[in-house]
Parts: sequence; C-alpha cells; structure tokens
Amino acid sequence: METWINEAWEYALGKLSHTHTRIGATFPNASYGGKYDARDEDCWTNGFWPGILWLAYRATGDGEYRSIAESCEEQLDAPLQAYEQLHHDNGFLWSLSAVADYKLTGNTLSRRRGLIAASHLASRFNLKGHFIRAWLYEGSEGLAIIDCMMNLGLLYWASEELQDPRYRHIASAHSEMALREFIREDGSVHHIVRFDPDTGERIEALGGQGYSPDSAWSRGSAWAIYGFAIGYRYTGDIRFLNAATAAADYFAAQLPDDLVPPWDFRAPAEQLWAKDSTAAACAASGMLELAFLLKGEESEHYRKLGAAITESLFRHYSPQDPEEEALIIKGTGSFPHQAEVEVPIIYGDYFFLEALCKLKGENEIFW
Ligand code: GLY
Repeated sequence: METWINEAWEYALGKLSHTHTRIGATFPNASYGGKYDARDEDCWTNGFWPGILWLAYRATGDGEYRSIAESCEEQLDAPLQAYEQLHHDNGFLWSLSAVADYKLTGNTLSRRRGLIAASHLASRFNLKGHFIRAWLYEGSEGLAIIDCMMNLGLLYWASEELQDPRYRHIASAHSEMALREFIREDGSVHHIVRFDPDTGERIEALGGQGYSPDSAWSRGSAWAIYGFAIGYRYTGDIRFLNAATAAADYFAAQLPDDLVPPWDFRAPAEQLWAKDSTAAACAASGMLELAFLLKGEESEHYRKLGAAITESLFRHYSPQDPEEEALIIKGTGSFPHQAEVEVPIIYGDYFFLEALCKLKGENEIFW
C-alpha cells in the first residue's frame, strides 16, 4: 500500500478523535471559521456525520463514535415520522445512519427505520414518467434530479432484506429513465429534468445547481458515477455499469492538473476558480467502487484514478490550519445560489474518508 494512504488515514482519524467530542450528536453541514455549523433534523445532508462516525467505529471499534452515531439516528426519527418533511433524499439520510448501524451491529430497530425510509422513497415513484419525485414544494411534482441515483441503494437494500423485488423494480425503472433522460452522449449529465406529472411526458432539462441546462455540473457527474455503480453492484445490469464508466470517463477527461474539478466543467472562464472538492471526493469513491466491481486492467484503471484524486485531496485540500474541523476544504454547495461557495462541506469529508477506507481494503459500503 502506498505510504500516503496510511498518512492520510492517520490524519483523518487523528482529526476525528478531537472533533467528534465538540460536534457531538448534532448535524454539521458546512464549516465557517474552522467550525462546523449545525442543521435542523430534516436537512438532506444529515446522514453524513453519522456515516463518518460509523466508518470510524468500523475501523477502530471505539464505542464513543458508535454512541454519537446512534444518538444522531434517534434524532432522525422526527423527520421519518413527520411525513410532510420527507423528500427523495431518504438514501442519503438513512443509508448512512440506520442502515449503516444495522449492517454493523444487527440492530433490528435500525433495520425497521431503513425499511420505513425505503417505503417512503418508493412511494415517490411516478408511474407515468418512471421517475422518483425529488422535492416537496408545490410545482415540483414533475421534477427528477441526478442526485437521486445515490438514494437508490436504499431501495435495492430493502428488496434484499425483504426478499421482495418491488423496491428493486422501482430503483431500476428510475435508473433506466435516468439513462435515457439524464446521461448525454459524451457522458456528462443534466441536473434536473422536468416531466408532466400527469402524462409522464418529458418537458425540459433545467440547469439547477449547474450553470445551465446544457452545462456539466461536476457533482452531478459524481452522483451519476457512484449511483450507477451502486446500481450495477446490486443488479449486475451492464447498462448501469456502462453509464457509470461513461460518466467516470467524462469526469476524468475534464479534470484540471490538481484533479479537483470546478463546480461546473462548462462554467464561463471567469467562474472556473470556484472548486468543488465534494465532487472530487464522491467521484473518487465512485471510481474505487468501479475498481471493486471490475476486473483486470479496467479495475486497475479506475483504482489508479480514484487513488490519484484522493491523494490530491489529501495533499492539496487538507486544511493548513490544524484547528479547522473539516477534513478537506473548498467544497461548493451551489454556485448559482451562491450557497456554500469554496467552504468545507460534510459530504466532502464523508466521501474522502470512505475513499480512504476503500484504499485500505474495506470494500463493504453502507449504501
Ligand atoms: N443533493 C443536493 C446536492 O448535491 O447539492
């Protein structure tokens, strides 16, 4: 194993050994002035901190990580029971909290939480358009987004747990829709597609968190790489593998010298300064997933790419300031909304740590 992997691992675990006590059972989202903020229970990013703690618990057996993760999971019962607060991000929220807990400890209450979250997610499927509705607000009935690919693991997991193909059918139907409507010929992706919710007819693509309907939001590419790879892991459907590799090859071909993309590969030149390290971390972990699923030269190709991006994050995007709570800096939440521009974001930390776990040989995932 390359020396830097152990160095990066020591760095990440060393930092978490301090930060977990200050952050505790809250829901950090972005770090400002060196300290992570805390979100309300229904934010889509609230699975990532318990997910980080479960990764750390799995690696160290340290019960402090486990008990904070358990406390976060209990707090997520509020949005799980408040039906009106649930959107499509149940996978981000409960795969990394309840499902992770169940996979590591066998907790049957956690299993039930995961299954309830999966049932809610399945109920968002629009039978006419074959898409899972993304958001809650009035007017969003026909909107599907590429991010949803990362939520589908929860459905595949539920099908396996219940020995019932219904959830898998919905995840695969949404994925087939995404193959058709989101992935472009060159491997880049749309962020949002609008359908008529009554007829299922496609109306238009929208720019969303990308620069424009025809641009290439880098985190959207990362969601496609990893989400389709997970679909292939669960189903063995070669079309999902091909979509993941097409998205990965597009992403890799656009990368600048430091292997960390701008927020949108097709943003105007004067906006390319804004990096998104979260896209790099998620794409790296997705490529390492491909390396695990493939064999021979293809596997080695994606392992090298995933490792190189992770190494660059460690060498060039770990904070200079030892007091900074985040593991990596310069994530961009949404440049068009000027929200969280070049700040550390919790999902960047999650995917960075997950990629390091894979590079150390741990290939089981919570998704
Ligand atoms: N799922 C929302 C985002 O990627 O920002």
